[in-house]
Amino acid sequence: MKYGYFDDAAREYVITEPKTPWPWINYLGNEEFFGLISNTGGGYCFYKDAKFRRLTRYRYNNVPVDVGGRYYYVKDGDVVWNPGFKPTQTPLDKYECRHGLSYSRFSSEKNGVGAELTCFVPRGATAEVHKLTLENRSGAGKSLKLFSFVEWCLWNAQTDMENFQRNLSVGEVEIDGSTLYHKSEYKERRNHYAFFSVNAPIQGFDTDRESFIGLHDGFEAPQAVREGAPRNSEAHGWSPIASHYLEIDLAPGEKRELVFVLGYVENPEEEKWESKGVIDKRRAKGLIERFDSVEKADAALAELKNRWDGLLAGYRVCTGDEKTDRMVNIWNQYQCMVTFNMSRSASFFESGIGRGMGFRDSNQDLVGFVHQVPERARQRIIDIASTQFEDGSAYHQYQPLTKRGNAEIGSNFNDDPLWLILSVTAYLKETGDWSILEESVPYDNDEAKATPLFEHLTRSFDFTAKHLGPHGLPLIGRADWNDCLNLNCFSTDPNESFQTTENKAGGQAESLMIAGQFVLYGREYARLCRKLGKAEEAARAEGEVAKMVESVKKHGWDGKWFLRAYDFFGKKVGSEENEEGKIFIESQGFCTMAEIGKEEGLCEKALDSVGERLACEHGIVLNNPAFTKYVIEYGEISTYPPGYKENAGIFCHNNPWVAIGETRIGRGDKAFDYWKRIAPAYREEISDLHRMEPYVYSQMIAGKDAFKPGEAKNSWLTGTAAWNWVTISQYLLGIQPDYAGLRVDPCIPSDWKEYVVDRRFRGVQYRIVVKNPSGVCRGVKRLVVDAEELPGNLIPLFEAGTKHEVEVVLG
Ligand code: BGC
Ligand code: NOJ
Repeated sequence: MKYGYFDDAAREYVITEPKTPWPWINYLGNEEFFGLISNTGGGYCFYKDAKFRRLTRYRYNNVPVDVGGRYYYVKDGDVVWNPGFKPTQTPLDKYECRHGLSYSRFSSEKNGVGAELTCFVPRGATAEVHKLTLENRSGAGKSLKLFSFVEWCLWNAQTDMENFQRNLSVGEVEIDGSTLYHKSEYKERRNHYAFFSVNAPIQGFDTDRESFIGLHDGFEAPQAVREGAPRNSEAHGWSPIASHYLEIDLAPGEKRELVFVLGYVENPEEEKWESKGVIDKRRAKGLIERFDSVEKADAALAELKNRWDGLLAGYRVCTGDEKTDRMVNIWNQYQCMVTFNMSRSASFFESGIGRGMGFRDSNQDLVGFVHQVPERARQRIIDIASTQFEDGSAYHQYQPLTKRGNAEIGSNFNDDPLWLILSVTAYLKETGDWSILEESVPYDNDEAKATPLFEHLTRSFDFTAKHLGPHGLPLIGRADWNDCLNLNCFSTDPNESFQTTENKAGGQAESLMIAGQFVLYGREYARLCRKLGKAEEAARAEGEVAKMVESVKKHGWDGKWFLRAYDFFGKKVGSEENEEGKIFIESQGFCTMAEIGKEEGLCEKALDSVGERLACEHGIVLNNPAFTKYVIEYGEISTYPPGYKENAGIFCHNNPWVAIGETRIGRGDKAFDYWKRIAPAYREEISDLHRMEPYVYSQMIAGKDAFKPGEAKNSWLTGTAAWNWVTISQYLLGIQPDYAGLRVDPCIPSDWKEYVVDRRFRGVQYRIVVKNPSGVCRGVKRLVVDAEELPGNLIPLFEAGTKHEVEVVLG
């Protein structure tokens, strides 16, 4: 069953039923100011950091689901309704929510009144703009009462939810014409305030929640709205809100357009006050003025659309399969932008106060995004590398506002350092900007300890090379990519975290996933060294990588697949010998991507085993058999019920590794099939089972051992976005940025005849037509660039601003 449809021409998903199986959300903003908005208007917004600078309040994990947002109440006679359906849930005569690229639009109708509400964050603005149009489509005159509503969060979203003894006394507001200001804590240590404004005179307002809603009522029935009478309340402590009241008389056919601005301002210390206790509002007024007419708001929205035209023009495919095309051309790239912006901070499954930016997460997100805005990727690399320690290890997470490593979670996730090699080489290949390697980058944010970025890569490489266990394989630390495989933890206390609790001393647990990662990114490192003329360092790295390959072949092969690890006691993990968890996906993915033992047929065997034991109709599960009891020496993994999350869930993030592995041995049919199983556009018809948004990947789909296989969770913020982007754009469609040009190495379903990719690369526009006359999966037989046949499969670099025609014939 579906709850809407894709409108590819408009680049929108159109939701036609407000009661979706879960709130289906969208993101507003791509720079410094962000909002989350659900298909019923729920969500919140923040400046830079969802923990430290949250403007509006949101109550996660609530009953009913998705409570709190930017709400507009229309009172028409006795009937009160919302353009986004919630919170009144008054049945609408028409409802539509269009989630587009960085904007959402609600179009609804009730009793002859039409409403259209468009929400977005304009470029270069620290504000949400809400354009609201009310139209009288009935035959009689209408006297409407309109109430806007947002509830202010007291900035720090964590203490906002904890420290009531203080917070219920600190709320302060100012009211100035049609602008309602929120200035809690402004007089002491904050230089920022928020406001909510409308470009029309108002007939009343409220800024105190209890006055507006009533103490015993809910968002669905505020007293002021029910009675059609604002209280003109001024908040003093308790819970500050902002609500405008407008009386709108509409003749038949008449409409009224309003522009609301919900914004954030920082004042310099010396410009804090206009007079004693009164905030200096000049900056807010400047921001409001930029969007104080319908024309200005429309122009800002058009600018945003143009921006997305430009971003998406970097990679466009036409395969003839509309689901593939919409994933590649629109939604996957969009989700990559969002994961780049948010890392794992704020979604409807991440509270915005917990995890901030992940070291491994953000490095991986970057490879899905670097072709969109390389300058932002550059800055991100510097920020991430600045949280590395001198020995090459790294803080696992950092806060986006402060850019400081998060000491609570600390370090010792031993896959972390190697991801930096992935992101930096991806950046170099995309941009050719070698200067980044010379940037001076601190360790642990300490400028006194800074080296050129290149040295950070050496230390990343060496961290693994120097932390090997008894089998010559990398030590796992707290965990590798799989946060829940905690082989040194041995936790017996339900009140401690598997990730941060002290590890048992003397651990020698080793990871085959990191081994594969070291081979893959170690080779990248060595290749980079050669490009830089550092032949000796390259040879040294190649030597270490060769040793690792031998260790994997000698100690990491179980007969039909790669082992997953050695545990604390040196026992095999992910072996036929084990009772449960005999085979795991991560080492199959990484060792086959690294092509370890390919000549001897190990990759093919491992991938066949994945097909036999891990694959199911909804994707590839993480391990099999699922754990049914707590294995203390494995940690969190076995705490999940079978089929969920890291215990045999379909962890979509790592499915692409297998798909890429399949392309390394030329099996395009298989690779493409795996991708389609988890790609949301292909799952749209089963939305009632899948439950999450059909336009973005989810982190997890319940696996074959679960109570409800096929049910997804944790949509949006997942490395799945970047990895699927890399899989489809570089390994299936086969257009791979490389140092000296674009390498073409498709691996496609054998029944594909032809497709076209338009790729912008280093300022050059390429049109690449790939033809497959003999029905193969892989192998470039002929490459013609601007009518000239070239050897090999590398499309060379050209002068920026030029356009080139490329023909590729497979065979
Ligand atoms: C989850 C992991 C997640 C980790 C973050 C675990 O409980 O299962 O997916 O990465 O927490 O701390
Ligand atoms: C989600 C986390 O964000 C990511 O860092 C981790 O690799 C996966 N979970 C697997 O545990």
